[in-house]
Amino acid sequence: MPKRAATIPATGITLDPIAPEPLHRQLYQRLRSAILEGQLASGARLPATRTLAVELGVSRTTVLAAYEQLRDEGYLDSQIGAGTTVAQLVHSPSGRSSGPQPLAQARSQRWAALSRRGVELAASPWRLRPSVTTGGTGGGLAPESGAGAGFAFRLGLPALDAFPVKLWTRLLASRARHSLGTLLGYQDPAGYWPLREAIAAYLGLARGVHCRPEQVIVTGGAQAGLDLAARLLLDPGDPAWMEDPGYYGARGALVGAGARLVAAPLDDQGLQVTTAERLEPAARLAYVTPSHQFPVGVTMSLARRMALLAWAQRTGAFVLEDDYDSEYRYVGRPLPALQGLDRAGRVIYVGSFSKVLFPSLRIGYLVVPHGLVDAFTAAQRFGAIHVPALEQATLADFIGAGHFGRHLRRMRALYAARGAALVRAIGRDLGGTLQVHSARAGMHLVGRLPSGADDRLAAELAATHGIEVQALSAHALEPPARAGLLLGYAAVPSHQIDHGVRRLKDALRSTSRWRQPSAAR
Ligand SMILES: Cc1ncc(COP(=O)(O)O)c(C=O)c1O
Repeated sequence: MPKRAATIPATGITLDPIAPEPLHRQLYQRLRSAILEGQLASGARLPATRTLAVELGVSRTTVLAAYEQLRDEGYLDSQIGAGTTVAQLVHSPSGRSSGPQPLAQARSQRWAALSRRGVELAASPWRLRPSVTTGGTGGGLAPESGAGAGFAFRLGLPALDAFPVKLWTRLLASRARHSLGTLLGYQDPAGYWPLREAIAAYLGLARGVHCRPEQVIVTGGAQAGLDLAARLLLDPGDPAWMEDPGYYGARGALVGAGARLVAAPLDDQGLQVTTAERLEPAARLAYVTPSHQFPVGVTMSLARRMALLAWAQRTGAFVLEDDYDSEYRYVGRPLPALQGLDRAGRVIYVGSFSKVLFPSLRIGYLVVPHGLVDAFTAAQRFGAIHVPALEQATLADFIGAGHFGRHLRRMRALYAARGAALVRAIGRDLGGTLQVHSARAGMHLVGRLPSGADDRLAAELAATHGIEVQALSAHALEPPARAGLLLGYAAVPSHQIDHGVRRLKDALRSTSRWRQPSAAR
């Protein structure tokens, strides 16, 4: 509660501590009015959240919640290093905002030049954050630095501190010295042949994927593969089943192709095929993560896999199988890929080296049915054309010399230990708040919050304590049944896991700040 009503000098904003409207809501409304009425002009810099919180006598969480809402709605921009500024709402010659406008208008004017799906992509809250220790963009990897290690609990990062940087550098240098001359021209858009052979051999042995090297198309990470598949298989307006909650990267690729997303619910056996069929029987594609559902972690049962394939065969739809982290299973044997069960050529299999090596490598792959190889190869011409040849050749050498298998085995043991450390620390310090199961697979845990929790607010509170967790609800298309937090552990050394959990405990200590939705948003 504020100790006093205070003012932002430039706008005369005051908050009323005894009004029924929550403080963050009051602040959001005052700032929005100030923007729409031109008191805060486009480009104007807002005070830092900490400064404004002190000025107004409110908690920083209150200010963060108001800023976030305004940012989501397109009124504010914020960039690392540049602070928070008022967005360019109207492109008047003076560059200043010109008077009141309703939200939709403000939005459409801000992105007037974009297509409808362009607006949806631009408005996505999923921004790629720079790597922690390098300060670069896009998760850069600084040789010898252990870049990105230890950041609790960022999702999706492998143990960059354990990557054999010197070995990789040696292989890269050797390739550059001996064969760069032959790799300077345009290459095969489907990928470097020895790498396609190595991937096909690995997938057959490790994942039960049935394929010949010709069927492997090397792409710029899984993301470029998802994008290529969505563009080739869907027309604008085509319905597509999307796991709900599900992977935002796939959602972006489907939206980019103009698909109409159909939220397909999950249960403990994975995507509910019968329900999805009832919701939209004419879907042209289903996106699934059957080995380890992202983000909730269930494994799709054999019965559901068969039902999904039967539906696809019956209707002529495609299944886009994203097998992004199946290498990491610590208990029991992994179920082979869905693709290995497909006898009708309905599955497009997607894989990535982002989780098993490092994400800035930007190498992933598709395995496509024989009849589609030419189409996918031809269409690469109109994307990135191909992944840089030197990196592809280095990766083929890395796999061929047995380093890939060795690295995977080391990482499996390391992640199992880090996952167990996180489960222990949560049990000890957050037992009454976060309900987690043992880390049986993958690189993150799902911690369920008690009923009535606002997981986005809990994640915001964690951020104010220097801890990065993601709200489960942020991955949902429809309102989720229960709130939760996602905690990545693969990149966090065990001793920093304890420290991170203690800080998360401090952040969530005051339950009234994140357990009553009406007081939160
Ligand atoms: C579900 C899922 N698929 C794929 C990927 C890998 O993406 P990329 O290869 O584009 O880095 C990720 C990474 O976060 C993921 O979570």
